[in-house]
Amino acid sequence: MSILVTGGAGYIGSHTSVELINAGYDIIILDNLCNSNRESVKRVEELTGKAVKFYEADIRDPEALDKVFAENDISSVIHFAGLKAVGESCRMPLEYYENNINGTLVLCASMRKAGCKKIVFSSSATVYGEHNVSPLTEDMPVGGTTNPYGTTKYFIERILEDIYKADNEWSVCLLRYFNPVGAHKSGRIGEDPNGIPNNLVPYISQVAIGKLECLNVFGNDYDTPDGTGVRDYIHVVDLALGHVKAIEKVLGESSFSVYNLGTGVGYSVLDMLHSFEKACGKKLPYKIAPRRPGDIATCYSDPSKAKRELGWTAERGLDEMCEDTWRWQQQNPNGYK
Ligand code: NAD
Ligand code: UFG
Repeated sequence: MSILVTGGAGYIGSHTSVELINAGYDIIILDNLCNSNRESVKRVEELTGKAVKFYEADIRDPEALDKVFAENDISSVIHFAGLKAVGESCRMPLEYYENNINGTLVLCASMRKAGCKKIVFSSSATVYGEHNVSPLTEDMPVGGTTNPYGTTKYFIERILEDIYKADNEWSVCLLRYFNPVGAHKSGRIGEDPNGIPNNLVPYISQVAIGKLECLNVFGNDYDTPDGTGVRDYIHVVDLALGHVKAIEKVLGESSFSVYNLGTGVGYSVLDMLHSFEKACGKKLPYKIAPRRPGDIATCYSDPSKAKRELGWTAERGLDEMCEDTWRWQQQNPNGYK
C-alpha cells in the first residue's frame, strides 16, 4: 500500500516525502509542478536511495486522478497541493478558490470512488484569524480569515469535516502549520520561491547570498518585546515528522482530528535576523519599513495537543533553522534551476 502525496514536489511535500520513506512507507508523488521543479523529486530519491513514482498531473483533473488510483494500491493521501501566496490570492481570488477548493473536491471525489478515505490536509495557523490571542489552541474559534488564501484553508477544513460527518469511514487529520522554515541537513532540498520572496526567512537568505540588498522589517511599533512581529517558526523537518505521526493516526481508527504543528515559542523578526547573521557569519543590512497590511503582531501555537495525542514535538531550534537554510542557499544559489 502506498501513500499518495499531492504537491509532493513542493517545499514541505519534498521534506515530508523523505521522512515518510525513511519511516518505511511507500509513496507516490502527484504534482503539476506549477510552483516546483521535477528536480526536487530526483533529490528525494537521491537522499533516500529509493525510486519514487511521480505523476505530473493536476488535482483538478478527475481522469488523471482516477488513473492514479486505478494503477496503484493507495491507502491514504497527504494533501499539500495548493497555491499559497497571500498577496497573490488577494489579486487572484478566483484562481485561488478554483485551484485549492475545486482541487480538493475533485481529489476527495476520486478518493471516494476508489474507496480510499484517509486524508491528512495541510492547513494553516491563518484559520485562527486576527482575534484569537496566542498561544493558539485547536478549540479556539476559526474563520474570520483576512485573505482568500486563508479562506480557502478555512473552507477546505469545513468541507473535510462535513465529509467525515456524513461518512465515518473517512479518517481526516487537519494540520495547522505555523511558520515552516529551514531545509534538509544535506542542503539538497529546501525552499525555492519564485521571484522575490514574500516570506521572511527566504528573503533574509537572499540578502545573505547577495541577491537582495536589504531586509525591510515590516513595522517596529507592534506590542511585542522589540516592536517587530512575532511568529512561531518551525523547522520543516520537524513539520515533516509531524506528518509521519499524522498518517499513523489516520491509518488507525477512523477519526476527525485537528493539530497545531508549531514549537510553542514566538520569535521576532529581529531575533530571526540575528540568528541568521550567526549562521552566515556576517552582518545583514536591514531597514524599518511600514507595517505590511494584514499582518498581526503575534502568532504562536500551543502544540501540546499534538504532543499528547500524536507523541510529536518540534525539536529543532532557531539557530538550526537558520544554519540549514543557509547551507541550502549556499549550495543552491539559484534553487533547483
Ligand atoms: P509549495 O508551493 O512549495 O508546494 C505546493 C505544491 O503543490 C507545489 O509543488 C505545486 O506545484 C503543487 N500544486 C499546486 N496546485 C496544484 C494542482 N492544482 N495540482 C497539482 N499540484 C499542485 O508550498 P509548500 O510551502 O510546500 O506548502 C504545502 C502546503 O502547505 C500548501 O497547501 C500550503 O498552503 C500549506 N501551508 C504552507 C505554509 C508555508 O508557510 N509554507 C504554511 C501553512 C500551510
Ligand atoms: N516580515 C518582514 N519582512 C519581510 C517579510 C516578512 O518584516 O520581508 C515579517 C512579517 O511582517 C511577519 C514575519 O516577518 O511579522 C513573518 O512573515 P512571513 O511572511 O514569513 O510569514 P507570515 O506569518 O506573514 O505568513 C505565514 C505564511 C502564510 C500563513 C501565515 C499565517 O506564509 O501562508 O503564516 O499562518 F497564512
